[in-house]
Amino acid sequence: MQKIIILDFGGQYTHLIANRVRRLGVYSEIHPNDCDISKLEDVTGIILSGGPSSVYENGSPQPHSSLFETTAPILGLCYGHQMIAHKLGGKVTPGKTKEYGIAKIDIKDNPLFSDLSKQETVWMSHGDTVSTLPEGFSIIASTSDCPIAAMANDEKKIYGFQFHPEVTHTPNGMKILSNFLFNICNCDKNWNPKEYTKQIMQDIKNQTNGRKVFMLVSGGVDSTVAFTLLNQAIGPKNVYGLFIDNGLVRENEKEFVDAAVKSLGGDNFHCHDASDLFLSRLKEVYEPEKKRKIIGDTFIDVQKEVLSNLDLDPEEWILGQGTIYPDTIESQGTKNAALIKTHHNRVPIIQKLIEEGKVIEPLAQLYKDEVREVGLEIGLPEGLVWRHPFPGPGLGVRCLCTDGDEDLPDVKEKLNSIASEYNLSADILPLKSVGVQGDSRTYKHPAVIMGDSDWTTLEELSTRITNEVPEVNRVILLISPKKLNPTKLKKSYLTKDRLDMLRKADTITMDTIEKHNLMKEIWQFPTVLVPVGDVNESIILRPVYSKEAMTAEFAKIDIKVVNEIAEETLKIPEIDYVFYDITNKPPGTIEWE
Ligand code: XMP
Repeated sequence: MQKIIILDFGGQYTHLIANRVRRLGVYSEIHPNDCDISKLEDVTGIILSGGPSSVYENGSPQPHSSLFETTAPILGLCYGHQMIAHKLGGKVTPGKTKEYGIAKIDIKDNPLFSDLSKQETVWMSHGDTVSTLPEGFSIIASTSDCPIAAMANDEKKIYGFQFHPEVTHTPNGMKILSNFLFNICNCDKNWNPKEYTKQIMQDIKNQTNGRKVFMLVSGGVDSTVAFTLLNQAIGPKNVYGLFIDNGLVRENEKEFVDAAVKSLGGDNFHCHDASDLFLSRLKEVYEPEKKRKIIGDTFIDVQKEVLSNLDLDPEEWILGQGTIYPDTIESQGTKNAALIKTHHNRVPIIQKLIEEGKVIEPLAQLYKDEVREVGLEIGLPEGLVWRHPFPGPGLGVRCLCTDGDEDLPDVKEKLNSIASEYNLSADILPLKSVGVQGDSRTYKHPAVIMGDSDWTTLEELSTRITNEVPEVNRVILLISPKKLNPTKLKKSYLTKDRLDMLRKADTITMDTIEKHNLMKEIWQFPTVLVPVGDVNESIILRPVYSKEAMTAEFAKIDIKVVNEIAEETLKIPEIDYVFYDITNKPPGTIEWE
């Protein structure tokens, strides 16, 4: 069968490229960066992924020498684009400006760009750029900061883009990839993603091979779909579903999940309260990665305890997980990828079980949109399939902690000089949170914007700030009250009181968007508690639009709804301020932690 080969140089979007190609109806496979293409059959096209390294650095991932000897068309994306230039005699240099986020490209006539406008919006996330073209290539697209945004050697059918057509924030990205597949590689459209479901069921039967599955079910889309697939593939008597209340769940979540999953039929689903154990282990821990590891390990300890209480033979029962692809890639799941964060289902103790063949993850190759498709395919109700994603470590992520040590970069003046161009003012919060830039994790401060403006202007300002001020990875807008007094960081950990306060604020947010019918439009809406205020703490609202969570855009919802949430939230006595996150991903992440 015809196939598109994706060479993995460690980019956060590598698997997304494979997903896109399959969605366009062409089978695709990911291979390591140094794979010998000449040994593969039926290669109709090759895509080189992005990656966190610099092509000119010692030890950076390189392609196999056979790559440019193949006759199949080649498309390099970001690092892949730079690699083509580097290998074929062009030059790659550190860019004058690091570009993250939305950019406008001016494009020339080329079969890759057929049916597009002269100017297109694309998504950039890079530091290096191609500064000199290799011989035989011409420029086919440019931005103001990046003259060689796309290059082509039409005769040899080798192409390179500095931007990412595979992310949804390049609005015509699918069209561009489709042009590559059908205008350049002459592919046939013969892969149907619904085939996944059949294939997954068969894989479950093969992998379990007579063993039974003990599965932690959070009630989120992924674990519910995985649990149902297991039930359908090997029968409910061979599956045991357990919801563990870790004390980090939303208000009324346990009751909701219990009713929803039980209504799917079968009496193989149970709930277990372990909140005291989780909270006691998280006492006085503030680093995000440490919290994640403790939560992940404790899930396994509780699971083991339940298994032994039930007297289930650990040799007969393996562990089921609802892991989806982004969990793996962000936990440094492939050779060249950078660690963005350790997802709870990728802590070392689970990695060991995976190596021993004692874990089954039926959805590990899929993205959220594909999981939802499978969910509908196997007959789950829409209400469950369309639930907002919620992280495994739950509110343990969204409740930020600190030992109280401030280290505030001196950038207020610089921020204000940029903000003043938009008639707005700016400040910086004495707090750090996780972000992702150029395929790597960052831990930096948020800038605060004060004043009134429209979302489009705020998005432009936010992108400028994170591009021009390296000490900042997020930009938030002060919603209420309108004046920001000097703020300080308060030593804070994961306590029941703080979690209850966050649960209250989260319920206000979710009830308000439900009331305004915004549940489906907004992809996910974290409400975040940060230990910063003039006296107490603050809430940050983080609604995003996304498709598969690898990239996201802050949601531009009606400001009246935002004000309504803020007004209600400020009735919680310990909340001083409500902010609204106006950062896209990258450079921010969806969650704050
Ligand atoms: P970020 O914050 O990296 O999140 O932009 C991407 C998506 O992943 C979810 N998330 C998790 N999901 N276990 C999960 O199952 C985790 O440990 C975890 N951490 C983040 C997040 O809510 C978003 O949808």
